[in-house]
Amino acid sequence: MFDACLRQKLAVQKERGLYRCPPEVSENDGRTVTVGGRTLINFASNDYMGLGHSLVLAKKAADAFGRYGTSSSSSRLVSGNASVIREAERAYADYFGYEEAIFFPSGYQANMAILSTLFGAGEMLLFDKHVHASTVKGMQLGSAPFKGFRHNSMGHLTKRLEGVRGNPVVVTESLFSMDGDTPPLDVLADLKEEYGFLTVVDEAHAYGAMGPGGRGIARGIADVALGTFGKAMGLFGAFVLLPALYREYLFNFASPLIYTTALPEAHAVTAMAVLAEVAQADDARAHLAHLSRYLTRLLTDEGLSVCGEAHILAVQIGNEDRAHDLVKRLFDAGYFTFAARFPTVPMGRAIIRVSLTATHTEADMRHFSEALSRLVHDDGRGAVAV
Ligand SMILES: Cc1ncc(COP(=O)(O)O)c(C=O)c1O
Repeated sequence: MFDACLRQKLAVQKERGLYRCPPEVSENDGRTVTVGGRTLINFASNDYMGLGHSLVLAKKAADAFGRYGTSSSSSRLVSGNASVIREAERAYADYFGYEEAIFFPSGYQANMAILSTLFGAGEMLLFDKHVHASTVKGMQLGSAPFKGFRHNSMGHLTKRLEGVRGNPVVVTESLFSMDGDTPPLDVLADLKEEYGFLTVVDEAHAYGAMGPGGRGIARGIADVALGTFGKAMGLFGAFVLLPALYREYLFNFASPLIYTTALPEAHAVTAMAVLAEVAQADDARAHLAHLSRYLTRLLTDEGLSVCGEAHILAVQIGNEDRAHDLVKRLFDAGYFTFAARFPTVPMGRAIIRVSLTATHTEADMRHFSEALSRLVHDDGRGAVAV
């Protein structure tokens, strides 16, 4: 009975074009992946700076695992609060310009911890409707009431602020993971000044890849900022930048931190090496930004509708099946991409998410653009319209 119920739900997913079955990747060097014996140009990775395959970092990590062992073996609150983790956290706080930092095993856990723990019944969380699933989950788990505002609409946020009861907290991202766009941060800063709210900004897709020194784009606006190591920083886990008081509070009350095994010490050592790499990568960041502008122009010239202001581009497709089908055909043409469909994006607004890395070349952009536009124009389903 129970199994039949699961099978039935999976069958419905298939009928709706929402069934997920990711292909197995046997090799990955950052720019390319190998799937089923075929090597494809990878446009589906968040390793925006190519650091996930840096030999310098791999060596550092291997040495550190040799020196410190492979596991922290306990929660920070038991015996896993290692000096080297503290040292790395201080280095992150200093580099990004915050009072304190705290590491988490993943960004998903970090968002859950911040949003469910720091805020309570006295606050009102006002969140951009396109924030990541982990942020939504954190709000659902917590006791603070929450209300959405339209994606990147400062007008709608202002309306929400005017009717707000309790201390407002604005929750948004600096570079949106699926749309690839950014909120008008200068307007957000003005509103913050006027209304005096706190801000929680998820910089998961910006840290390492955007801003001077890779310090992201919401500095001075975010009271609490989240970064993941698993994207441009080329590692795994996450860090939260915040005031010392909030850090102390999380250590005492955040269940996703208290009841989980700490990241290994070797992670902290490697994380410090990541900072050194990120600090000296201005040329790579400039190349990445150039590739994004270049590909946007190529795709737009081909009549495709593209959203995105940096290394994440969302090619608007609309129909779920069509997006899925185009990704399969791109695969056959030698490109690895990702069709983002409901519930990751709204129903009927499926996209092909194209993520770039500094290891891509201009030729990769040209070849990909030609392949995608040919497939869209030849699939017999007309122009893409959303
Ligand atoms: C905006 C955003 N925040 C948080 C996360 C979660 O980070 P992690 O992968 O480290 O769990 C992601 C991951 O996909 C993300 O896109």
